[in-house]
Amino acid sequence: MSQVRAAITGVFGYLPDYILTNDELATIVDTNDEWITTRTGIKTRHILKGEEQGTSVMVAEAIKGLLKKTNTAPEDVELVICATVTGDAIFPDTANIAAYKAGLTNSFGFDVNAACSGFLYALTVGAKMVEGGKHKKVIVVGADKMSSIIDYTDRTTCVIFGDGCGAVMLEPTTEDTGIIDYQHHADGSGEKFLYLVAGGSRKPATVDTVMAREHFVRQNGRPVFKAAVTGMTDVVQKVMARNGLDNDSLDWLVPHQANIRIIQTISKMVDFPLDKVMINIEKYGNTTAGTLPLCLWDYESQLKKGDDIILTAFGGGFTWGALYLKWAYDGSAVGK
Ligand code: UT7
Repeated sequence: MSQVRAAITGVFGYLPDYILTNDELATIVDTNDEWITTRTGIKTRHILKGEEQGTSVMVAEAIKGLLKKTNTAPEDVELVICATVTGDAIFPDTANIAAYKAGLTNSFGFDVNAACSGFLYALTVGAKMVEGGKHKKVIVVGADKMSSIIDYTDRTTCVIFGDGCGAVMLEPTTEDTGIIDYQHHADGSGEKFLYLVAGGSRKPATVDTVMAREHFVRQNGRPVFKAAVTGMTDVVQKVMARNGLDNDSLDWLVPHQANIRIIQTISKMVDFPLDKVMINIEKYGNTTAGTLPLCLWDYESQLKKGDDIILTAFGGGFTWGALYLKWAYDGSAVGK
């Protein structure tokens, strides 16, 4: 019997309506379009507005779109894995809140918290659940409402992040497609460079933590930049080498969208042409767990069955990794 792999059989994205431009940010903090564009590559990001609108709102919309697009009955979905650092609450988990909102009556689910690498980790877990033979329809989501943990008085972080969500359907295949290999890493000593001070069990929320603005993202950008370039370059090269991929045979590189300069540097270091690198950071900014599935969604129409694709990410933790898959269908044959 041929080997069973998990293949992505559909992708859908959700971006909130409100678009925050660089010019609007320049009215909030001391920044400007020129600095943001040249240092990050970002022009706009989407923001989820409204009272009590959590990440599950975006996840539910992405799942509903994915079900429609893949012609899947809600009751056929068995598992939802949601990568996020901005779940609706510390508990219950956002995967199950969103599944309920999307009408999935037979699924169980859980969240994966690995910051910008969350979708990679979640996709790996989802693939193993499919390969194990028990599950035939697994939805993997990357979603973050970063605006809920961003300090809009801190110009070093507020220009970078945005809200958004992408979801993929995983199904078993015995064709020569699907998820083939991965290599993931973590280094908890990286915590000091990218973190939230309060709101967890170590330092629960108090009036003082709120007054000290300790519930917002803090980042020391330069060391994170360097570690991101080194980590992603290393792991992409390793996954390419052991799968016999070279710069001609690899069709697409899908990097986490944190900074256009990080993406350009990795492309140069692995000597891989930028026109085969998926880039949409100018529209969405850094949506944390959302960046990779949103890239797949934006580029889906250009993807062909059998395309060799490597996804790579680096984020808070530190967490990083790369995953190699063969695309399972002609993207031009399906509508967005
Ligand atoms: O996705 C999770 C992982 N995160 C990342 O991968 C992010 C990695 N880091 C980065 O992308 C970059 O380090 C940043 C975009 C965060 C910052 O860019 P940078 O080129 O490293 O700038 P910097 O922090 O070294 O700051 C350079 C200057 C500073 O001014 P002085 O001290 O030279 O006078 C900053 O205060 O730029 C200033 N600055 C700004 N100026 C205008 C920082 N933010 C802004 C801003 N507008 N928004």
